[in-house]
Amino acid sequence: MRHLISPSDLSVAEIDQLLALADRILEDPSAYAHKCDGKILATLFFEPSTRTRLSFESAMLSLGGRVLGFSSADSSSASKGETVADTTRVVSCYADIIAMRHPKEGAATVAASVATVPIINAGDGGHHHPTQTLTDLLTIHQLKGRMDHLTIGLCGDLKFGRTVHSLIKAMCRYKGVRFVLVSPQELRIPAYLRDDLVAGGYDFQEVEQLEDAIGAMDVLYMTRVQRERFFNEEDYIRLRDSYILDAAKMKLAREDMIVLHPLPRVNEIALEVDEDPRACYFQQVRFGRYIRMALIMKLLEVE
Ligand code: CP
Repeated sequence: MRHLISPSDLSVAEIDQLLALADRILEDPSAYAHKCDGKILATLFFEPSTRTRLSFESAMLSLGGRVLGFSSADSSSASKGETVADTTRVVSCYADIIAMRHPKEGAATVAASVATVPIINAGDGGHHHPTQTLTDLLTIHQLKGRMDHLTIGLCGDLKFGRTVHSLIKAMCRYKGVRFVLVSPQELRIPAYLRDDLVAGGYDFQEVEQLEDAIGAMDVLYMTRVQRERFFNEEDYIRLRDSYILDAAKMKLAREDMIVLHPLPRVNEIALEVDEDPRACYFQQVRFGRYIRMALIMKLLEVE
């Protein structure tokens, strides 16, 4: 039985297989409409979500399976004090596979340690969000046509942004990838991740001005400054509008750069950018459903 807790749980070869399967599903979704007949996915979301929960549900329904679950801790017995481990043991009796989001780092690891069905980490605090990463990888693979020799800019909240941490971990494994990390001093990547980049000899630079770096990027991954991760409202207010991507900044970028964002966006991409053909964040949302179909099939061993 396999779980997916961090992007590193999948080898590069396995990720390539998932991307190839997602490509095939995209070409002919109807061929996969009964792959999970009779199977049940549980979505246990202790933290709010639109895309991740609904794309998991859409993915399972598109495979012919069924879904159950809850969308907030308040509507589950967590509100009465039930532990993640006990909730997981219980739901393992009702479902064939579980997607879980939790505000605490490590919650998915705890769940996996007691589950009798595969656990998919749908985001654990500021730690990892591997299925967003798979979505990002499928988007890059589909739109850039390659995964190697890319300059990837990541901009905004690189400290708490779990999608950033997961994407860096995943893209490190492809040849010739260079990272440009754009953030205020306070929101730089965590020390453990910087240490990993240094120890692995990966090519990265940290800068504070997006305008100085945007011209070299193949991919610009914008992120939201996440109010829910701050202990102090004053710090959040001071930092929330550090970067706003607008038409003027897009003029400095290459013609073939793509702009991604895990969404939700708040203020960090001006609405005028949506009209730019390089704005690919809504295509990215669409790919999320297909890569999750591929992942569910892999973990349920139905392919
Ligand atoms: N990208 C993402 O995780 O979005 P949600 O929080 O809406 O699931």
